[in-house]
Amino acid sequence: MASDLPAPDAHERAHSEALAGLIRREIDAGGGAIPFSRFMELCLYTPGLGYYSAGRRKFGAGGDFVTAPEISPLFGRCLAHACAAVLTASGGGDILECGAGSGRLAVDILGELDALGRLPGRYCILERSADLRARQQDLLRARLPRLQARVVWLEQLPEHGFRGVMLANEVLDAMAVERFRWTGRGAELFHVTTVVDGFAWRSGAADPDTRAAIARIADECALDAGYVSELNTSLQPWLHSLAERLACGMLLLIDYGYPRREYYHAQRSSGTLMCHYRQYAHADPFCWPGLQDITAHVDFTAVAEAAVAAGLAVCGYTTQAHFLLDCGLDRLLQGAMNGSELEYLRVAQQAKTLILPGEMGERFQCIGLARELDIEVPGFRGVDLRHRL
Ligand SMILES: C[S@@+](CC[C@H](N)C(=O)[O-])C[C@H]1O[C@@H](n2cnc3c(N)ncnc32)[C@H](O)[C@@H]1O
Repeated sequence: MASDLPAPDAHERAHSEALAGLIRREIDAGGGAIPFSRFMELCLYTPGLGYYSAGRRKFGAGGDFVTAPEISPLFGRCLAHACAAVLTASGGGDILECGAGSGRLAVDILGELDALGRLPGRYCILERSADLRARQQDLLRARLPRLQARVVWLEQLPEHGFRGVMLANEVLDAMAVERFRWTGRGAELFHVTTVVDGFAWRSGAADPDTRAAIARIADECALDAGYVSELNTSLQPWLHSLAERLACGMLLLIDYGYPRREYYHAQRSSGTLMCHYRQYAHADPFCWPGLQDITAHVDFTAVAEAAVAAGLAVCGYTTQAHFLLDCGLDRLLQGAMNGSELEYLRVAQQAKTLILPGEMGERFQCIGLARELDIEVPGFRGVDLRHRL
């Protein structure tokens, strides 16, 4: 696979080899293999070396992949309308963004809320990557100097009693997952071992909780023997830790994924693991550790179940297209007609990328998880897909 991709330069190669060396040492110390989830965690988040923790450009046209906030400010401006309604219904409050990437979404949401006269008390950002945190700080300082005092980078989760909106765009897909094979009688995990020129798969045992979770999926989705897929075992504790801090308001999660029965559909018998390197998408996670993103789709039924177990209500589930349209995307687009025709065409093209079914419109889904919130939230008033979860 590596030979089909653009070659990294000598500096990047050295960086990747340093991370690969660190992973090899951990594999040796672990008796010759580690679970895939640990390999993915090391590839993405090893301080200073992991994909999200080191300095290469990741987002946007010159990076490895493009997220919705990088495509158009319309995305964040639409989300701001959902935030404004929840903030009002919660009697004011804060916004917490998890995994803020380049900081673009924060800029667009805050800019629109400012224009609406509905700013949150604070806009808090929780970011695992020190490198991305520094980039977010630079961008927000440059783009919104007057709102600087409201933006806070948290070192840990907020205090209990949080009111307002918690949100995360494309964060769940960047969490380390287990990869498994259903044998027909039980689950085997994929572990990672070393070979002369890199890494290779080896089969390993799952712990009792993971085995039970996979057996439930196999039963519910009638998996055939040999079926390979992923399980995000970090989702439940992550969601629980946010939910227990949310006293009033909504947690909004946007990502690519499916309800469980579609996720574990017979057609997807090799799973959803995907890697992104300089706008190339491929399925080999062993390629250039630290230089490529590794992702898995999101099981939105698992998100809903974890939320309900944590005492939240699923107040909405729909596609990104329906969500943005119900937040007023077409009205915002009309606003762009006041500029030049060329500018309008550019913005209309961005809007198409966000909502067309063959682009991001249907692949991306939005789920709202609420506590003590008695309103119909903009975004979720149109097409309700909760019955599919
Ligand atoms: C695919 S990027 C998406 C960035 C941004 N939200 C966007 O839409 O452009 C994933 C982001 O989530 C962050 N991240 C991953 N796990 C996280 C966690 N548990 N808490 C906070 N941030 C996390 C990564 O460091 C990165 O900023």
